[in-house]
Amino acid sequence: MHIGIIGAGHVGSTLARSFVVAGHDVAVANSRAPETLHDLETSLGRHAHAMTAREAADYGDMVVLATPFGHYHDLPAGGLDGKTIVDVENYLPGRDGHIAALDEGWTTSSELVQEHLRGGRVVKAFNAMRWDHLRDYGHEAGALERYGIPLSGDDAAAKREVADIIEQLGFEPVNAGSLAEGGRKHQPGSDVYAADLWAEEMRARIGVTA
Ligand SMILES: NC(=O)c1ccc[n+]([C@@H]2O[C@H](COP(=O)([O-])OP(=O)(O)OC[C@H]3O[C@@H](n4cnc5c(N)ncnc54)[C@H](OP(=O)(O)O)[C@@H]3O)[C@@H](O)[C@H]2O)c1
Repeated sequence: MHIGIIGAGHVGSTLARSFVVAGHDVAVANSRAPETLHDLETSLGRHAHAMTAREAADYGDMVVLATPFGHYHDLPAGGLDGKTIVDVENYLPGRDGHIAALDEGWTTSSELVQEHLRGGRVVKAFNAMRWDHLRDYGHEAGALERYGIPLSGDDAAAKREVADIIEQLGFEPVNAGSLAEGGRKHQPGSDVYAADLWAEEMRARIGVTA
């Protein structure tokens, strides 16, 4: 699969490497010119390409958003219609500035992203584990226990695609529900955020029964 990754910092570059190892082709983008990603592109090998954010969005069958959440309005809305969009971002007011609707719990950060990228199918995932643990904690398929990665979204097919990618990286997907409900269950401040839980414990804390 072609995966576009917008944001090539700690999480974006970590996921880029994991996706390449899993057999995918990636495009990586930052806020500057693609030339500034030359070292990363070279280290990832011939299945990785540095591009602008707009080009990476066009390139990806799936597009990963891995920028600071405060920049979500800059994300290229056009060209993402119908695509699965993986929202790795977290709302951190100290970094992103205060947004009243989030501070007061009327909505979630991923719902705001979904509103901005109207035609895309947003799935919140990979947000609740530190980048270096995402890099190191994946286990072989068939391992007795695997770490849980919660995901939430409003489009069942998009969630299945992201669940499949989570499995390919050696983690176990834990379906937390819709963006509105499930997103709250794995955002910063929730019971599972940065907790590094085995999948069974993750399911119990999130309240997954099936
Ligand atoms: N760090 C973690 O362990 C972790 C874990 C899970 C989720 N997250 C979340 O994932 C997101 C990224 O975190 P991070 O730690 O990887 O951040 P980071 O290391 O600071 O990297 C941010 C990346 O986003 C790029 N960027 C910023 N604004 C952009 C824009 N308008 N268009 C395109 N690219 C843009 C930056 O490009 P430049 O270098 O050109 O500025 C940089 O490549 C955050 O929302 C964070 O809360 C982080």
